[in-house]
This record gives sequence, C-alpha cells and structure tokens, in this order.
Amino acid sequence: MSKLDEAYDIEKFRDQGHQLIDQLADHLAATQKGDDKVVRYKESPDAELTRWQNYKFESLDLFFKDVLSSNMQVHHRRYIGHQVSAPAPVSALAGLLSEFANCGMGVYEMSAGGTAIERIVVQEFCKAVGYDMDSSDGVLTSGGTLANLTGLLAARADYLTKHPGKRPYILVSEQAHFCVDRGAMTMGLSNDQVVKIDTTEDYSIDIVQLENHINEIIKSGGHVLTVVACACTTSTGSYDDLEAIADICERHNIWMHVDGAHGGAAVFSKKYRSICAHIERADSIIIDAHKMMLTPALATAVLFKKKKNSYRTFAIEADYLFEKNDEEWYNLAKRTYETTKYMMCIKIYALFKHHGLELIEEYVTRQYDLARGYADYLNVQSDFEVAHKPMSNILCFRYAPQKSGDLNELNTIIRKQLLENGDFYIVQTVLNGNLYLRVTIMSPYTDMSDLIDLTEEIRKVGISTSF
Ligand SMILES: Cc1ncc(COP(=O)(O)O)c(C=O)c1O
Repeated sequence: MSKLDEAYDIEKFRDQGHQLIDQLADHLAATQKGDDKVVRYKESPDAELTRWQNYKFESLDLFFKDVLSSNMQVHHRRYIGHQVSAPAPVSALAGLLSEFANCGMGVYEMSAGGTAIERIVVQEFCKAVGYDMDSSDGVLTSGGTLANLTGLLAARADYLTKHPGKRPYILVSEQAHFCVDRGAMTMGLSNDQVVKIDTTEDYSIDIVQLENHINEIIKSGGHVLTVVACACTTSTGSYDDLEAIADICERHNIWMHVDGAHGGAAVFSKKYRSICAHIERADSIIIDAHKMMLTPALATAVLFKKKKNSYRTFAIEADYLFEKNDEEWYNLAKRTYETTKYMMCIKIYALFKHHGLELIEEYVTRQYDLARGYADYLNVQSDFEVAHKPMSNILCFRYAPQKSGDLNELNTIIRKQLLENGDFYIVQTVLNGNLYLRVTIMSPYTDMSDLIDLTEEIRKVGISTSF
C-alpha cells in the first residue's frame, strides 16, 4: 500500500476515530470524578523536550494517551487556574468536524453552510448583548487578542473620519489585558498613546480619572480613539461601570469598545446580566466562546453596533477572491483579519442548538454563584485574606496567618508546591504589589467540596513552610 493510500485508509480511520472517542470519554469520566492528577508538572522544559525527542511512537492510540497525560487536564474538577474552558463534548465533536471538513471561511463558495451558520451565531450574540438586530453585525475570529485588534482597527477607521489629524489615544484600565497594548503597538501607536487609568478598590476603572484624562487630552489638541471597557478584567474578574463609560463616550463622541473576552458571556445569564447593563451602547464588543461558553479554543465574536463598522475596516480590493466590493455579508474574509478562517461557528452553533442557550445561562450562573460562595467561605477563615468581592468566577486571595513573615514569598512557595503536587491547579497574580493566589472556576464539576479541600491543602502547605 502506498503511503498516501495508507494515510487515507477508510477502515483504519473509522477504528482510530472510535478508539479516540472511547479514550476521551474515559478521560472525561475520570476528570469529572477527580481521579488522578490535574497536572504532572515537569519543571524542566529541556527534559520534556528530550523526552519527546526520544519518544518511541508505537501506536496512535498510545500517542493520544501520552499527549493527554503530559498536558493540563482542563476537564478536571480541580483545574481552577486559567480562563480556559473545559469543552463540552458536542462542541469538541463539532471542532473535529471543522478540522476534517477544512473549508476556509474566507469566501462563500468554500463554505456556504458555514457562512450562513456563522451569521446565525453572530446574530445570537447581537441579540444577547441587546443590539438592534437590523442595524448590528459582526464576525467570528480566532481569539480575543485578534478580536480586540479588530475592534481597535474599526475604532481607528471611525476616528479618522471624526477627528482627522488629531493625535489619537486609547484609554483603558490599568487592569486591562495586555493584548490592548499589543493591538495599539500593531497599529503603530507609541506607549504614551495608551493611557492606563487607575482602578478603584474593586479593581474597576476609576470613572472620575477617566474623564479627567479625556479632558486633558482634548485640551492638548489630541483626541481619544477609543475607551476600552473591561467586562471583566483578567486578574480579578472585575467589571468596569459600562453605564458611566457609555455616558462619557457619548458626551465626547468617542468610540466605546468592550473587552468581554471572559465576562461578556454574563449576558446569557438572567441572574448576572445586570453586571453588563448598558453594554449595548458600546460601538464594539468582543466575547470569547472559548472562555465562558464551554467551547474549545479558538472562537471569538466581534460585534458592531452599526453594520457599516463591520465592513469598512478591511475594505481593500482582492480581485482574485471577490467579484464586487460592496457590503455583502457572506464573503467573510472582507471583514476579518484572517483569510483562511477556521470554521469555528459550528462549535458554538452545535452547543446553542443541541443544548439550547440555557446551557450557557446555567453554566455562567453556576460558576459565578460558586465564586461568591467560596469568597464567603474564605472570609470566615481567619488565616486567609480575600483580595476583592468576586464579580465573576475569578477570585484572588492569599494565605495570611498571624505573625507570618513575607506573605508574597509564602504564597509563591505555596503555589509552586501545589503545582508540583498536581492535585489542584491554581495560578497567581500581583495586586498593588502583593502576590495573591488566583482561581478561575472553569470546570462545571468543581463544587464547594473541591474548594474546601483546596483551602485545606493551601493551609497544610503553608504551615509546613518554615520561615
Ligand atoms: C480580558 C481578556 N481579554 C483578552 C484576552 C485574550 O484572549 P485570547 O487568549 O482569546 O487571545 C484575555 C485572555 O485571557 C482576557 O482575559
């Protein structure tokens, strides 16, 4: 058999596929129960490289198993670290279909079904954020970083017509994700053109300072390209006051962009929707489905209040791809940074249609409730200190026993020890110069008992750490 015939052998594909799904189903069962480690941390990247350089590839089945076990178990109920979803099986299956079908989403001819499905998914997002369905639009793109850049580029296109010749500034909370700086850098702005506004004690943007900075910039002859509002921030999951920001932006004729990569999904929760009140007044909004919507990476919605803003950013001629250059909704490469775009829409569509939007509502509400419950629990532990009231499913806290020495060092050691033990995965962050442990409750199987066990593990490691 030729190598090509072997690679496309139908019966082998069927068997290997069945084996892989069986393996993943067993993995899901084990991680839901909390069997085994969350992570087997290898301290030395070089040793890991050597292991894989010397890896004996015996079978596909074994290879898949080894890949699974040598990486983070994001489905594990004690994975409580970064904002990475534990993909729902239906969404992961749709992802596999997408990989296999491999229809670039740039031009309608290549992906008629996918293009129509993407439009339906985008319309669901527009409806959820409260945009007018007749005048809004958007696209899906590969990740929050690219989505924020797309929003910033749209803001710039608008700025050039509104405030031509004026030096542009981007204003954003000092707690915003670093991809806003990266976007500004990509657009050729210098560091001083990204103005970081202080936050208040709940780590949301200080509204008074924001308006003061805007007034100063306008007085100096410049103007504001956009105010980026966080919904929510990465470190503490804090939501900026979207109503106040919308008022300010309207007063000064400024583009309002909402980075809802993590917390934008709260619009799907009846209980927590109010935390995003006035989001529909933003000119552009991004929401990552691969964070709080149980979807595998990458899949991000970029939404525009006004349709035209979804078209003009990348409006360039590409005669080999498109026959005409007007506002057609269906040749998506005209509206995304990407040309060959992965068919990410079906991962979201499959979830929406197979389980209903209630799935996202239930998930977001459950995770946000749990973070509040955990904060209440920690608040009555005399040897723990909670850094903020949780607004989302992110919570920062630290082990702070009486008379301890350097708490930053103590909590650094605790986090490292937890990583090495591998029974829990949590991360850390720095707030006002202090190091805090940080959890993002992502797994739909994490419950209060896991969080209590985590607290006890932290305490145990903390007590055994001598100073
Ligand atoms: C608030 C926020 N915005 C943007 C991003 C970047 O998104 P992505 O990792 O999908 O590029 C993140 C990632 O953690 C985030 O938390």
